[in-house]
Amino acid sequence: MSDGTPNPPEHKPSESHTPVPASDAVAPPAFGRYRLMRKLGTGSYGEVWRAEDLFLGEPVALKFLNEHFTGQSVSLDSLKREVRTLRHLSHPNIVRVHDLVFDNEHTAIVMEFIDGRTLGELVAASPKGCLQPDDIEVWLPQLGSVFDYLHRSEGIIHSDIKPANLMLTTTGRLKVADFGLAVTLAESTSHHTQTGARAGTLAYMSPQQLRGSRPAVSDDIYSLGATLFHLLAGTTPFHGSTLDLIAPEKRASTIGARRYETGKGKLPPVPEHWESAIAACLAKDLRLRPASVRDVVRWLKAEAAGGSGSADLGTSVILPPHPTPARAPVEAKPLGWQPLAAGSPPPPPVKSMPIPPARAAADHATLWIVMLIGGVLVLIVLLIIAVMYL
Ligand SMILES: Nc1ncnc2c1ncn2[C@@H]1O[C@H](COP(=O)(O)OP(=O)(O)OP(=O)(O)O)[C@@H](O)[C@H]1O
Ligand SMILES: [Mg+2]
Repeated sequence: MSDGTPNPPEHKPSESHTPVPASDAVAPPAFGRYRLMRKLGTGSYGEVWRAEDLFLGEPVALKFLNEHFTGQSVSLDSLKREVRTLRHLSHPNIVRVHDLVFDNEHTAIVMEFIDGRTLGELVAASPKGCLQPDDIEVWLPQLGSVFDYLHRSEGIIHSDIKPANLMLTTTGRLKVADFGLAVTLAESTSHHTQTGARAGTLAYMSPQQLRGSRPAVSDDIYSLGATLFHLLAGTTPFHGSTLDLIAPEKRASTIGARRYETGKGKLPPVPEHWESAIAACLAKDLRLRPASVRDVVRWLKAEAAGGSGSADLGTSVILPPHPTPARAPVEAKPLGWQPLAAGSPPPPPVKSMPIPPARAAADHATLWIVMLIGGVLVLIVLLIIAVMYL
């Protein structure tokens, strides 16, 4: 165990720390200025530990990357570049990334420690096996706010939204974790798909993401829909093969039907507009998905408020009956570190790319269609009157 003095920057794991069980051998007992306190869980990248920053006397979480990520397939340079980008993200609903630390054997991302649990853990522990819309409604403004920040202000696609990456603090604040790691994974797919390590995550990925298309906001919308489905139904929308996830004709059952199938049929029904909003997020055709998380939130909230359509968070927009579907994939910055071929020049630094709002154009189109239909109706009425009186 360390005596409390921070180790030098080029640290070695301390020999004197409480031995870690053999199964935990991937993580060192102490890591530089961090004393490992307890293992919080294991994900597909490696183990996550609650640790204490001995220098600042603060709790942190250390995510150790297993050797697949720290081996040849992902370079330290690209890891550093991504962590530099992540360190600049600042939003109350984002799990902060502090640092990247490594020695000869181990590499870890140092993050804000969240005193709470993931939504995956929450739903698994819920007595009914699923949540109700009322439970989720309180998080909607936070979801709208954090994804506005990511998608619109920072131009960042999360790419791995799922219940395990949404955490709830003990004070009830929602925190989004693990940006960009899914993109890394996509760069090194075969290993993980073969080992099944990502099986849990594939179920939340859009068909476009599964096919390896460039990350887009519509991927996050799909994953959010799959997450909401899971929270409300207790299971993911598709639990068959990857083909079910990709095939255009395969549609998820309704949340109500899934609840019935899984013995939760006696619960109060999920409101129709929640069913329709989530089904729209899960559309295989990305153009049929809502254009933004804010639209999803409005869809879920607007009708819950009696169909008045008033938007939350300070706007007073009167909404159309359904949010505008996405017109085209929005180009935004994917996170994630790219594997570097030996000797290849480093890729250019990732820059924020603001996402143009597609909504105005779509609203104009809707207006024109309404005016056209109105005009045709007036003409038909005039014709009928003319025929009757002539
Ligand atoms: N910043 C954090 N603070 C507190 N606990 C955390 C933190 N990050 C992760 N955890 C805990 O560690 C567990 C494992 O997290 P990890 O991100 O490695 O796995 P995952 O989210 O289940 O899957 P994936 O590897 O695909 O992200 C989580 O379920 C959570 O309980
Ligand atoms: Mg995670």
